[in-house]
Formats: sequence, C-alpha cells, structure tokens
Amino acid sequence: MNYASTVLLALLAAAPIAAFAQEASPPAGTGTPTGFMDVRAIRPVAGDAKAGAGKVTICSACHGHSGMAVVPELGNLAGQPATYLYIQLKAFKDGYRSDPVMSGQAARLSDEDMRDIAAYYASFAPASHGGTDTSSPGARLYREGDPGRGIPPCQGCHGPDARGPRPFVADVEGKPQPPWFTYPYLHGQSANFVTKALGDFRAGVRAGTSNARIMQGVAQGLSDADIQALSAYLPHL
Ligand code: HEC
Ligand code: HEC
Repeated sequence: MNYASTVLLALLAAAPIAAFAQEASPPAGTGTPTGFMDVRAIRPVAGDAKAGAGKVTICSACHGHSGMAVVPELGNLAGQPATYLYIQLKAFKDGYRSDPVMSGQAARLSDEDMRDIAAYYASFAPASHGGTDTSSPGARLYREGDPGRGIPPCQGCHGPDARGPRPFVADVEGKPQPPWFTYPYLHGQSANFVTKALGDFRAGVRAGTSNARIMQGVAQGLSDADIQALSAYLPHL
C-alpha cells in the first residue's frame, strides 16, 4: 500500500471523530447547520512573514523550509496565496478539514501564528518544472473542460498557467472582488498530490469549507482516467 492510500484510509477512519467534534462544539461564528466553514466573506489575510519564519521549524520537516514539500504526496506551500493557506490551517484547527497529521499540527497554532505562517510560505516562488504537452488529454481538460460531461475548464478558477485567473481583478480598487485570493494555485504541484486532492474532493472527504464544496462539485464529474490525465499534465505546467 502506498503512502497516499495509507493516509486516505487513516482519513476515512478519522472522519466520524471529526464529524462528532463539529457537532459537539461548532466553532464560534462559523458553525452552520450545513456544517462547513463559510469563507465567502473573508478579507485578504495579512501576516508577518518574518515572524512566520520563526514558527515553521516543525512544519519544515514535511513541507520543506521554503514550502517545497519533502515528499511528492504533499502539496507545495511555496507561493500559494496567503489567504488560501490561512483558510486551510483554520479549517484543520477548527475540525472542518481532517488529516491524522495536520489536524494535530494546526491545533497548537494561534490565529496570529496561522497568519504569520501563511504570509511566510506565500513569500516564496512556487515550484517550476516546465515541459508541458499542450495537446495531452489533461491539457485539454484543464483549458477547455468537457461540457458534455459538465466538467468546467480548470483554468477558469486556477488560471491559464495555474497561477491564478487573469485578469487578477482583485487588484482593481473600489471594484467588487471575486474571491480569487482564497483559491489555490496549482502550478508546480506533484502528480501524487493532484491525484490525492482530486480523489479526496470526489469522495467528499475534503468538503469542509465553502471553497472545498465548489471543488467537490467540479471533481464529481471526473473519471479515474481524467484524474490521471490531469495529474500527468499539471506538474509540467
Ligand atoms: C509530519 C508531517 C507534517 C508536518 C510536521 C506538518 N504537515 Fe502540513 N500537511 C501534512 C500532510 C500529510 C498534509 C496533507 C493533508 C491532506 O492531504 O488532507 C498537509 C497539508 C498542509 C496544508 C494544506 C495544503 C493544501 O494545499 O492542501 C497546509 C497549509 C499545511 N499542511 C501547513 C502546515 C504547517 C503550517 C505546519 C506546521 C505548523 C505543518 N503543515 C506541519 C503533513 C505535515
Ligand atoms: C469554479 C472554480 C473552480 C474550478 C472550475 C476548478 N477548481 Fe480546483 N479549486 C477551487 C477552489 C475554490 C479550491 C480550494 C478548495 C479548498 O479550499 O479546499 C480548489 C482546489 C483544488 C485543488 C487542491 C489544491 C491544494 O493545494 O490543495 C486541486 C488539485 C484542484 N482544485 C484541481 C482542479 C482541477 C484539476 C480542475 C479542473 C478539472 C479544477 N480544480 C477546477 C476552485 C475551482
């Protein structure tokens, strides 16, 4: 059994505990009858990246000192939007996202720690691999989706180069801001990680935030072959 399936099995085993924890003590202000963390109204998160550098000693063992994962099963945190990273940490801490390792890691962080750490990892450049095959099935799905099967183009939310949508309208002052700063970049992520994340969304084991619900809807339509094709394409984008 590979690492990903071990973690997945552990996740499934931990799921009832997380559900109970949510029911027993919904987090202040965010507990809703539907049981997910609503991030629609969140403002861009700011933190102190320098302070964050002093708080990631343990994290580095798995995520690398500058946010490049030490094993391909983990996502790279380097260069992700700070608000996205903050939301994930808060979701782990409050029990809306569950992982046998990360739930415990996030539990010991204060809100300020999470903001500082998010700012710290966001300050690095993401991984870059290059060499993408633009005619591959994964590339087509990413660019165009598959309307016949109700699959939207991934680039609509993750951007043509997986570094966020263009134009990045959040920069336009005074205009209503789409929540792109809460969305992850997929640029430079490993095949194993993409496969695990898409499988988790599809199976509903990662569905604890309003953003995860969006991605869960997208993943519903993906076949195993689609996930394989996307996992082959994304690391090279
Ligand atoms: C022993 C290894 C380990 C340590 C130490 C660790 N993590 Fe993680 N981290 C994981 C695993 C495993 C996942 C993937 C969970 C999943 O797939 O649901 C993860 C996921 C994450 C994610 C979500 C990434 C994404 O895009 O989905 C963030 C953010 C994160 N970790 C931050 C941290 C921070 C901050 C620390 C230190 C306080 C830390 N981690 C310590 C193993 C670790
Ligand atoms: C309608 C917008 C939307 C579309 C279209 C979309 N995504 Fe997402 N995606 C999201 C959001 C929002 C998240 C963050 C979910 C969360 O916070 O848990 C996400 C998360 C992800 C993640 C996890 C990243 C991480 O660091 O943990 C992967 C992988 C992913 N999407 C792949 C895809 C692929 C492949 C497609 C196309 C088949 C796609 N997405 C289409 C909005 C979208």
